[in-house]
Amino acid sequence: MRSLIAGNWKMNLSRAEVRALLESLRAASSSWDAVDVAVYPPFVYLAEAAEILSGSAIELGAQDLYWKPSGAFTGAISGPMLRDVGCQRVLVGHSERRHVFGEQDEETEQKIQAAFANGLKPTLCVGETIGERENGQTEQVVERQLQSGLEGCTAEQAKRGLSIAYEPVWAIGTGHTAKPSQVGEVHAMIRAWLTDRLGAEVASETPIQYGGSVKASNVDQLMAVADVDGALVGGASLEAESFQRIVEFQSV
Ligand code: PGA
Repeated sequence: MRSLIAGNWKMNLSRAEVRALLESLRAASSSWDAVDVAVYPPFVYLAEAAEILSGSAIELGAQDLYWKPSGAFTGAISGPMLRDVGCQRVLVGHSERRHVFGEQDEETEQKIQAAFANGLKPTLCVGETIGERENGQTEQVVERQLQSGLEGCTAEQAKRGLSIAYEPVWAIGTGHTAKPSQVGEVHAMIRAWLTDRLGAEVASETPIQYGGSVKASNVDQLMAVADVDGALVGGASLEAESFQRIVEFQSV
């Protein structure tokens, strides 16, 4: 399977910074033949980002979506709108959506279905808090998030571009990367869950990304772990050179 390296820009960067970053990435991307690369800018920059990336291999995604196609949902953005501005991908259930904005497991299922209904490739983000890990609940929490988010997901849908991102909440934006052994355990569990639920073929083709303080200096070590098929990068994706190094798996 090809690796999937993605940059989640969160609520960062000005319009001019977005433009400069995209132009640098676009220029570098001609040599990124062996990996799939995606970026997730803030909503307001998506249309312009699609124009800058058009014709390049870098895929564009949104950081969230609402599951209704249109209507009286002030502040929300729908799947058809994301398609309309040129998105191919969308993140679902990122830990900041869950923990800062109170998103519930059931909402992730609706969002995953809305993504597929609109031809978007969804990444379901899962991961435990430090308290859950210390209480020995990591597996139970990740399994619950998979079960809820993928409740209605068929093998046919999954083949259209599902990916999973394992992001331990305690490793996001903290500089505390999970140890390779911790990453390996959870990724193996996710692969086994996918095999059980969607079959071996789909499970072997569904990228499982690791996220949480991934940088150019640790990406080699993380990508070497079994069942790690890519990375979802926050802070280190905001600067062209550092993201480029991660894509190219070069250590600093
Ligand atoms: P981080 O964020 O790389 O800044 O830890 C990762 C993420 O939240 O996707």
